[in-house]
Amino acid sequence: MELYIKDNKEAVNNEVSSLIIDLVKKNKNAILGLATGSTPIGVYNELALDYKNNKTDYSNVKTVNLDEYINLPKEHSQSYYSFMNQNLFSKINIKKENTFLPNGNGENHLESCSEYELILKNHKPDIQILGIGSNGHIGFNEPGTSFDSTTHIVELKESTRLDNARFFNSLDEVPTHSITMGIKSILQAKTIVLIAFGKNKADAVYKMIKGPITDDCPASILQTHPNVKIFLDKEAASLL
Ligand code: F6R
Repeated sequence: MELYIKDNKEAVNNEVSSLIIDLVKKNKNAILGLATGSTPIGVYNELALDYKNNKTDYSNVKTVNLDEYINLPKEHSQSYYSFMNQNLFSKINIKKENTFLPNGNGENHLESCSEYELILKNHKPDIQILGIGSNGHIGFNEPGTSFDSTTHIVELKESTRLDNARFFNSLDEVPTHSITMGIKSILQAKTIVLIAFGKNKADAVYKMIKGPITDDCPASILQTHPNVKIFLDKEAASLL
């Protein structure tokens, strides 16, 4: 694991966006693994700004997202489909048909999982952006998830629903289930870039880097991946 501890979020956002921009400039067909949540928004803003100023070309780039809520309409402002369009896809010249998210509104969610796993087989990310949950989850792989898991349905833990309630009008509105890339699926990326900001991530960050490799902290499995870069602000790094 390579560790980068920066003074603030802006410094992290600059470095991570530069990594992505450099990759896309070098490889026009790059495959980006993307995350939602509050953590990557600054990076996406930087990519949008770079596109506005420099017209970095995303016309052949493909993206795969980590996860999507189940039974939240695509058009809902908090679906990850809407999130990605709002925060990134509408601001760069990526083709809609080149962007993939799990389908949380299919008739058969198990089939949607298999379909997504097939997409991932054909689209292994050159770089996978990850955030981390305060309980150590990656994607929506909560503590206790098998390290061998592929794309699957998850019942969200109360702590995760509480973390995400800030994006909804009330806790009741937060979906109870999602479809997520599994841990095995995530580990297929060539490079993994995990970003964490703030004190409430410090404990999970400590366990991910210094703790034992255990499914109690799903992110601890990243210790086994050959190419992981961890970008932290000072608060997230405060227990290291
Ligand atoms: C989002 C995702 C989640 C988040 C994590 C952190 O696609 O997979 O694992 O990265 O819950 O969320 P934020 O960034 O909102 O603190």
